Amino acid sequence: MTAVNRDWSTFIQGIGTLHSSRTLRFSDEFRERYMDAFRIPDGCRILEVGCGTGALAASLRRWYPAAQITGLDRDSAFVSFARKHCPGVRFLEGDAAALDFPDGSFDVTVSNTVAEHVDPARFFAEQYRVLRLGGVCLTLSARRGIHAPAPCVNGQTDFEREIWDRVSARFDGIEERVGMGRYAMDEREYPRCLEAHGFRNVSTAYLAIALTPDGPDCSRSRARAMIEAERLSALDALSALEAAAGDLVSGDELARMRALANGRFDERLALYEAGEKQWDTSVSLTMVLRGEK
Ligand SMILES: C[S@@+](CC[C@H](N)C(=O)[O-])C[C@H]1O[C@@H](n2cnc3c(N)ncnc32)[C@H](O)[C@@H]1O
Repeated sequence: MTAVNRDWSTFIQGIGTLHSSRTLRFSDEFRERYMDAFRIPDGCRILEVGCGTGALAASLRRWYPAAQITGLDRDSAFVSFARKHCPGVRFLEGDAAALDFPDGSFDVTVSNTVAEHVDPARFFAEQYRVLRLGGVCLTLSARRGIHAPAPCVNGQTDFEREIWDRVSARFDGIEERVGMGRYAMDEREYPRCLEAHGFRNVSTAYLAIALTPDGPDCSRSRARAMIEAERLSALDALSALEAAAGDLVSGDELARMRALANGRFDERLALYEAGEKQWDTSVSLTMVLRGEK
């Protein structure tokens, strides 16, 4: 079994990055679109594989109030965060490649941006095994999206560039070590892969979810949350830098980098409050694969 660890949350995507971006992406505003693609009844036993910080599980909790929901991830930092912040869901540490559940114990399995990181021979075979006959496997996979940041958050000073150059070797091989994207598949390979693992009535749907703070339908609180999500992502990158190369960077340098990042997002918020539109946007295109056992 793959050891439970904190590599993902430390080096790849921090808790703040993952939770804020996914909470926005799985917000109730998009509920009907997800539920139309999922086509699952309320009251079912749902297993979310690779649940991260629990943002999708928390949305499933609201959308399917009678469901029994279990979230599983191998990163212990994500699991302990999810336990504290997503009530009404059981969260467990575990390996998607070796699920510790009896055969046929769930009606639905679901995952978001996990399939590309786990050997499909294990990932899909294990979900097939733990699903009951007639159960549904939902695999959400991020396709190419759009990330167009506001100009004021997009720059880098010579000072920051020099630090990133100084530490870059420490990040060599991290993605390979945690297996990030090792098993990525294209839009034709995924449905075939589900069929090869025994799933029937396989279908695909695509959801484009746009987060645009300056959009006319975006509330002030949601716009601010979008900008803060980008800030968290920038600050998490600095926490990863500290974890990977804290010995190469002084405390003063790190503090200055954090202040520069914060300054940019403070400026973005100020522009928003002043009504000076930047039209920055983040659009995710999610493929929803659905197969039945
Ligand atoms: C891109 S993140 C997505 C997390 C979450 N599904 C979300 O959308 O916020 C990938 C997740 O898969 C988890 N993961 C990767 N390999 C795993 C494995 N073999 N077993 C369980 N979790 C795994 C990572 O710890 C991480 O939380």
